[in-house]
Order: sequence, then structure tokens, then C-alpha cells
Amino acid sequence: MQSCTSQLPTVLPVPHVIRRQHHGVPRHLISLTAVVGARPNFVKMAPILEEAGRRSTFQCRLIHTGQHYSPEMSATFFDELGMPAPDVNLEIGSGSHTAQAAGVMLRLEAELSERRPDLLLVVGDVNSTMAAALVAAKLGIPVAHVEAGLRSFDRRMPEETNRLVTDVLSDYLFASEPSGVTNLRAEGVPNEKIFLVGNVMIDTLLKFRGKAAQTGVLERLGLKSRGYAVATLHRPSNVDGMDHLASLVNMLTELSRHLPVVFPVHPRTRERMGGTGLAGRGLILTEPLGYLEFLRLTSEARLVVTDSGGIQEETTILQVECLTMRENTERPVTVTQGTNRLVGMDPNTILRAALETLNSPPRLLAPPEFWDGHASARILDVLERSLVGRDTSSFSVGS
Ligand code: UD1
Repeated sequence: MQSCTSQLPTVLPVPHVIRRQHHGVPRHLISLTAVVGARPNFVKMAPILEEAGRRSTFQCRLIHTGQHYSPEMSATFFDELGMPAPDVNLEIGSGSHTAQAAGVMLRLEAELSERRPDLLLVVGDVNSTMAAALVAAKLGIPVAHVEAGLRSFDRRMPEETNRLVTDVLSDYLFASEPSGVTNLRAEGVPNEKIFLVGNVMIDTLLKFRGKAAQTGVLERLGLKSRGYAVATLHRPSNVDGMDHLASLVNMLTELSRHLPVVFPVHPRTRERMGGTGLAGRGLILTEPLGYLEFLRLTSEARLVVTDSGGIQEETTILQVECLTMRENTERPVTVTQGTNRLVGMDPNTILRAALETLNSPPRLLAPPEFWDGHASARILDVLERSLVGRDTSSFSVGS
């Protein structure tokens, strides 16, 4: 891996060096505690831990909060992504958002008080991310947030609260796309804390794309490359109201008259649908898929219909048309420079947009800046330069 300083024309400056605390860790080592909790966290943290493992500067400890715990939502991802087993699992499990956050806080406080790492590293916007950042901030441990600055400007989304709280507590804010930088600046975050480094989820995608292509998921489900759609649905705004959820499932059923629709069902959605009928509609239902199978499935789809955040980004790189069943997105670059279209939550509009997309030629687009497989290396470069107290002026390339 070449030095990534030269790849950083728009990374913002870091004039300050955060004071390190030392608890039996040699000065040249950075003790880093990484916290993950839910499925998308694993995909984002894996490449950072792998890159840290290649460097002698970092001593890493991995904490799993246990927010996601089912084998298909957690262990499968650790296996497939080659992540080290967590050093600790806080086993907080399911519950209200307050119960989840409080569980993480109480259990993580003991761990962080004892170890006092130089840095807490969190990714994304799930409840575990916010709760972990809050514990570290209360203990005076610097926080690095990967995927900082994304904003849907919709406070009804639990993730928006998590993003706002995590960012306000963070010392290092690593943005995946330019909107993240703009939003943080507008909120008054000093430039020297903000770094545009690219997208770690795409580091993982590019690394595993070849391996994913070897899985047999298309054959197992009887699908032809580019001849099917993939649907995912798990956001509270879409699945927590029974009538709305039923109308979206009816819409997918209608779409399946035009091409096969594969629907890996998130546990939250399955719970909401209960026995009232996903079966017998002509949809190809599966349990939540592992990372590799899902990546192959989306790579070769004609169309993806989703309410996920990460899938908007993955389809942009895979050049697969994505219809996002939401009124807003915190990832606008996927619309302006990617294959994503916001189609709102009205089932008729979504169906119309899907059929239109099937009749349009696929678009070919250049990937967003720094979505190139090297985001993790950039993050660790910044941390090394700052935390080992070296001169950071080589990053000061202007804002
Ligand atoms: C969480 C994140 C969301 C992310 C999503 C990815 C928050 C606020 N939400 O939502 O941003 O996009 O993860 O999946 O943090 N369940 C299981 N097995 C599990 C985990 C959950 O069966 O391993 C079931 C439980 O019934 C649980 C429900 O799924 O109540 C929802 O899980 P939860 O972690 O609360 O939120 P997600 O909807 O997964």
C-alpha cells in the first residue's frame, strides 16, 4: 500500500494533536478500542481492523455490544469478513432504544474505565455507535467517528439522532462523502477535526467482490444474472405500521409479475408481518443473507428496491439501479453521482418508478471521490500522524 498522503488532495488539516494517556502501552503504540453492534457496523469496521493489523502502531481491542446477535445477523459476518472474534461481547440484545443504549453504556463504562484506550473508534449510526461514543466522551477518551456528517435532516429517524449525538462528541470526524464535510462545517465543527477519507464500506465491497461472485446464491434461487430484482425493507417508518407495510408488500408482489423479486426478510420485518402473509405471493423469500451471498445478489440484479442506507452506496459502486423507498437520504452523493433514486413511500409511485427503470438502459457513472478501497488506510494515516504526535502539516492541504 503506498503512502496515502499523496491520495489526499481534499483531506482537511489537523493542526492539533490530542494528548495521549498511557496505561502500560509503549509510547509508539496507539491503543484503540473499536466498538461494533449491528450488521452494517461489521462491514464498515472489518477493513479498518485489517489495515490496523498490518501496522505495528496499533494495538486493537474489539468490543461487540451484542445489539445484533442472531448467527445470520452477526457471526456469519465475522466469519465471512475474516474479522477477529470480539474480545468482549456486552450481550445487550434487543430492546427499546433507551434500553439498548443504556445497556451499552453501563457495560462499556466498566471496560473503558479499566483499559483507558488512547482512542475509541465507532462507525455508522446505530444505537451502539451513539452509546459507545457517549461513554468514551464522559470518560475523557477521544472518539473517532467513521461516516461522520451524514444527515437526512429527518429527526424522526432514530439514526439521525445517533449521528448528531455521535458527531458532537467526536474528536476525529471521518466523512465518506462531501455532504458530510458541508454538514459538519454548517454545525460549527472546526475544520481541523474533519477528514474526507472516502467510504470504508466500499473498501470491503471491493475486497470481497471476487469472492462473492463464487457463491452459488443465484443458482440456488434459480435466478438469471440481471433478470431479477432485490428488495429489502427494515426501517421503522416502513415496517412498523401494518397497513403501510402490507401495501409495500403488495407493491413488491405486483412487481414480481414483471420479474422475479428476491426478498431477504430482516427479523424486524418478519416480526411485524407475523403470520399474516409474506408467503404464497410469488416473492422469493429468504432469511437475512450473509455478506457474500447478498453482495453477489445485488451485483447481478437488474434493480434493487430498498430502504437501507448502505445498499444505496453499494449499488452506486456496483452500477446497479437502486430505488430508495424513503423521502430523504443522508447519502446524497448516491443520487447526484450514483445509481440511486429517491422514490418516496407511496407504493404506486414506487411501482411506477420500478417499471420505468426496467425499461431504461443502465447508466454508467464514475464512482464518488475516494470510494476506491483505500478509505481505511487514510483513516489510520490520520490517526497515526495525530496520535503518535508527529507533525501533521503534510495533511494541511487547505480547505
Ligand atoms: C438496526 C439499526 C439500523 C440498521 C439496522 C441493520 C438502530 C437504531 N438501528 O436496526 O440503523 O440499519 O440495525 O439491520 O440502531 N433481531 C433479531 N436478531 C438480531 C437482531 C435483531 O431477531 O440479531 C430482531 C429483534 O426482534 C429486534 C429487531 O430485530 O427487536 C430489531 O433489531 P434492532 O437492533 O433493534 O434494530 P434494527 O431494525 O436491526
